[in-house]
Amino acid sequence: MTETDHEGGDPACWGHLHDTEIEAPSDTTLAELMRNLADAVIVCDADGRITFWNSAATRIFGWNEDQALGESLDIIIPERLRKRHWDGYYGTMRTGLTSYGDRLLEVPALNSKGETFSIAFTVSLLRIEGSDRLAGIAAVIRDDTARRAELKELRAAARGATQA
Ligand code: HEM
Repeated sequence: MTETDHEGGDPACWGHLHDTEIEAPSDTTLAELMRNLADAVIVCDADGRITFWNSAATRIFGWNEDQALGESLDIIIPERLRKRHWDGYYGTMRTGLTSYGDRLLEVPALNSKGETFSIAFTVSLLRIEGSDRLAGIAAVIRDDTARRAELKELRAAARGATQA
């Protein structure tokens, strides 16, 4: 009987995969990925100034990279949420801790036309190498408007069904 691998193929065919050294993507490739990712990536420094803004951030929020870099995050935060955001932001800067590393923060946002829409995001803490201190904070954000609208419709339909 001929020996096969677990997928029924000739094991010799897979041999080269194990011999080849795996090469991690370069920093340039990873930077390119960040720039072109479908989700918005926004990085801010310790003061909350925008230091990185990718093409999806331009698509979602309307401001282009030149307009956004160096600005405060206030350009995308509705006024009534700014205090809560900055209390949280500087708290995280101080403690190096966040509860939104693996949990979505779902909030309304502002675009360049002053319109409000829904976003959902997680944050990543950027540590200074060899230190516990943070150099800044990154957020990976998606437009959540369509999903929330769908959810609202489904809830309304479910309410209608239970009342019928
Ligand atoms: C429309 C945009 C945004 C709004 C409306 C917003 C709003 C908020 C609110 C309401 C909180 C308090 C959450 C809580 O108390 O549980 C918060 C916390 C926070 N936000 Fe924002 N935020 C926005 C964008 C961003 C971005 C882009 C970043 C990072 C680059 C960021 C970083 C943080 C951090 C680090 C906290 C503290 C999280 C924690 O306590 O664990 N926010 N924000």
